[in-house]
Amino acid sequence: MSTTKQVTLYINGQSYVVQHKPKEKLLETLRALKFVSVKNGCDEGDCGLCTVLLDGHPVRSCLLLTENLDQQNITTLEGLSENGKSHPIQTAFMETGAIQCGFCTPAHILTSKALLDENPNPTETEIREALAGVHCRCTGFVRIIDAILRAAAVLRGEEVPKIQPIHMDLPDNLDDIHLPDNFYRNEMQLGPLPPLVFTPKSMKSTKHIGQPEQKVDAKKLAHGRPVFTDDITLPGMLYGELLTSPHAHALIKNIDTTKAKALAGVHAVLTYKDVPRVKYASGGQSYPQPLPYDQVSLDNKVRHVGDRVALVAAETKRIALAALKLIEVEYEILPPVLNLEEALAENAPIIHDETDTEGIYDANRNIVFHIEAEEGSPDKAFEKADLITEGVFFTPKQQHAQTEPHSCISYWDEDDRLVLRSSTQVPFHARRIISPLIGLPVKRIRVIKPRIGGGFGGKQEIILEDMCAHLTIATGRPVRMAFSRKQEFISTRTRHPQKIHYKVGIKENKVTAMELRLIGDTGAYGCHGLTVQMVGGFKGLTLYNPPNSRFICDVVYTNTVPAGAYRGYGSMQEQFGIEVLMEEIAEKLNLDPIKFKYDNVIKVGEPMYLAKKLGEGREGFDQSMNTSAHAEALAIGVEATNFYRKREKYKKQADQVIKKGIGFSIVFHGSGIAGLDMAAATMKMNDDGSFNLLIGATDLGTGSDTILAQIAAEVLDIPVDDIIVYSSDTDFTPFDKGAYASSTTYISGGAVRKCALKIKEQVIEQAAAMLNIPEKDGFILQDRKAIAPDGTSLTLEEIGLSSLHQMNQHQIIASASHLSYESPPPTAAQFVEVAVDTETGEIKVERLLMMVDCGRVMNPITAAGQVEGGMAQALGFAHSEESYFDEDGHMLNASFGKYHTYKANELPDMDVIFIQTDEPSGPFGAKSISEISIDGVAPALVSAVHNATGKWIHRLPLKPERVWKALQDE
Ligand code: FES
Repeated sequence: MSTTKQVTLYINGQSYVVQHKPKEKLLETLRALKFVSVKNGCDEGDCGLCTVLLDGHPVRSCLLLTENLDQQNITTLEGLSENGKSHPIQTAFMETGAIQCGFCTPAHILTSKALLDENPNPTETEIREALAGVHCRCTGFVRIIDAILRAAAVLRGEEVPKIQPIHMDLPDNLDDIHLPDNFYRNEMQLGPLPPLVFTPKSMKSTKHIGQPEQKVDAKKLAHGRPVFTDDITLPGMLYGELLTSPHAHALIKNIDTTKAKALAGVHAVLTYKDVPRVKYASGGQSYPQPLPYDQVSLDNKVRHVGDRVALVAAETKRIALAALKLIEVEYEILPPVLNLEEALAENAPIIHDETDTEGIYDANRNIVFHIEAEEGSPDKAFEKADLITEGVFFTPKQQHAQTEPHSCISYWDEDDRLVLRSSTQVPFHARRIISPLIGLPVKRIRVIKPRIGGGFGGKQEIILEDMCAHLTIATGRPVRMAFSRKQEFISTRTRHPQKIHYKVGIKENKVTAMELRLIGDTGAYGCHGLTVQMVGGFKGLTLYNPPNSRFICDVVYTNTVPAGAYRGYGSMQEQFGIEVLMEEIAEKLNLDPIKFKYDNVIKVGEPMYLAKKLGEGREGFDQSMNTSAHAEALAIGVEATNFYRKREKYKKQADQVIKKGIGFSIVFHGSGIAGLDMAAATMKMNDDGSFNLLIGATDLGTGSDTILAQIAAEVLDIPVDDIIVYSSDTDFTPFDKGAYASSTTYISGGAVRKCALKIKEQVIEQAAAMLNIPEKDGFILQDRKAIAPDGTSLTLEEIGLSSLHQMNQHQIIASASHLSYESPPPTAAQFVEVAVDTETGEIKVERLLMMVDCGRVMNPITAAGQVEGGMAQALGFAHSEESYFDEDGHMLNASFGKYHTYKANELPDMDVIFIQTDEPSGPFGAKSISEISIDGVAPALVSAVHNATGKWIHRLPLKPERVWKALQDE
């Protein structure tokens, strides 16, 4: 008896007779029909990424059964444009910078279409309510709302202005700062503001850099084209699934795969018995990765709920999932260790008792790393201090919650080389790391990185690549694996929870000594445990940079989902602790906290005392601050928020239920890993004077492909449109360490600049030969032309054609690599305004304002998008996000429905003000932008809550019950 049935669907105006399985979801049907703009973000109706229009109304296609939709009209994003011409909403999304990774874009565009069809002139609040059901992890919704307001105006037939940031000269005297009126916001609801850019008068202007160029990948993302890993299907492709552990800590005594293997359609079932036991570390870092190598592809011990147990490859996803249920596993359950206190307890269960892992600091005490570093004489300085203050802080196990689940497709190519199409931030590290695991040399592996639906560090790990490869090797067939949303929560990586104990010595209002005792929880495996904590120690002791400091750190194993790289990378946790403690100290000393912090913060020219001792997993390099805008950032923030007036007013609030507060923090970060991060770029010239730019850098939605093109365009003075960017493929693009450590603009951008300079030289050489001018000096490139000193000129097209076909024939091509022994810190000040309900402990965050110095701003719109998205993630860390476990180690909130990320209708107004500095070591003066944006919200939020309530809260997130309890304490 056939199990398939038939319905007729009208999709984008065309009729489709669809054979479907019983209980098949519309999401499955649409993707099988190649409407891949419909994304699978959770399959549970929580994220809204699978939104389509049913008779014009937004619906979640994962909640509808195809069998119930006979004769229904469905619209997907593919139906919005005609012959490739963008719909005004798509155009507005492209123009305003509303698209970052683009994985959520189809759902947002369709939701807005339904809204604008019904309400052509919506308010910002109405837009936020309409978008509340669609998850976005990259943006702060600012540019999306801007796009919808703009599209609405266009659809109403109104003129819309060109998207432009506001540029202002930075006055020499900070007392003279005055902002455009709308940046004061006051009590008025004004809608999204363009980013504001302050520039010192001494800074040279640029032509292509600094412009709000549209992202080079905007159109394909706005049109929902098949650009993500899971958007393709290969002939003969099998579906891989992972059986995960139901226990936090257990030995696999026996595993029987007989029944699973016997299921029709199953091609492989793999357990620890079937793959070689090769030890590795999953953190995607440079060679050699720090020990210990405490993982294997499949093991006979499980160390967290969600850990790997067995793999299946089958003809369909349904068969693969059915086969998982037929695998019989006999576990010997061991007592779990679920937090850092339990890990360090006397006689705690030993998580890594295997004998073949080298490099664990003290396996018997679950301590994987122990780090100590000291500068100056902290004990003597503490003895001499006027005041010593200590504070202990706790940070949560935050999830990455990126929209695109980890996905990978592996296959053999025609030359018997294994190809992995993977949603990875680190294609080159992934290739090197999986090579021994799958028994193939690097030269037989190719990793292709398509577009990525967000990563934030979670894709800087080897999560699926080795498993997918094992299944292709076992079956000879292409295999696709993609994690479910639940697996994203329990089987990938998180932020490290930390216990942070600061001790600060003050003499004459100056910080003279600091000690940081840190315990980091790395979960079941070491991953990034060493480096995250080292960065935390370095940044956490360098923001105020006392000459006498001490760092003592233990990193412990627990039976929880491993922690790994996550935007902020330790630095955000430690800056939370020190920023709050510094304000507490200012309060004790009765000092203005802004002045106290600024007087003590690291200044331009100061050496960073611990830079050499606390490198990243190894000895670092001496560094000092070249540029900083802390003074400007604080002055502008104070002015924009009317900080002092509000602070004083809020301190005197009578006993009302809702109390307002304003808080601030100052932060800094880094730009790449000094002396380690290396990137390369290749450019070649085409017949028409355009250029291919091949880069190994990995654009996760950050806009890095665009700003790297802008850098090349600046050197050659050509439109960005003349540069065709391709990133990244280990066969065709040069090496790049990948997207992490806020390194792409600074390091990869450095490589692109050098490469473009070499190209410029070759172009001029060819032009000089063509014009028969022996001397190359004095030639310039301008507006797609090479111009000789005498004013004669050739177009780049003439030069391209000549070099390839006519004269001195050769390919104009160059490659360049870049590495820096500095990691110049971007600097910033964060302001937060809140209203606290003193009866419930609920906090309503009303405004986030960040003043950021990222060196030269490469693209104000994409940069503002980065900052807004970073603040939104930081708000989750500070206020709403935490992973909860039961006593057996099961995560209790492993779904978007239960794990509270901020939604469109919950996010506050967010504004970004850039203060440009000219970093001498960066390309065109650039530093970094991505991670600084996440560092300041938590301490500023605690500061604001203190202003409102008088209470200091040291444990994040500030959930209502935690705040309420703090309010009860006398
Ligand atoms: Fe929304 Fe990436 S742009 S999830």
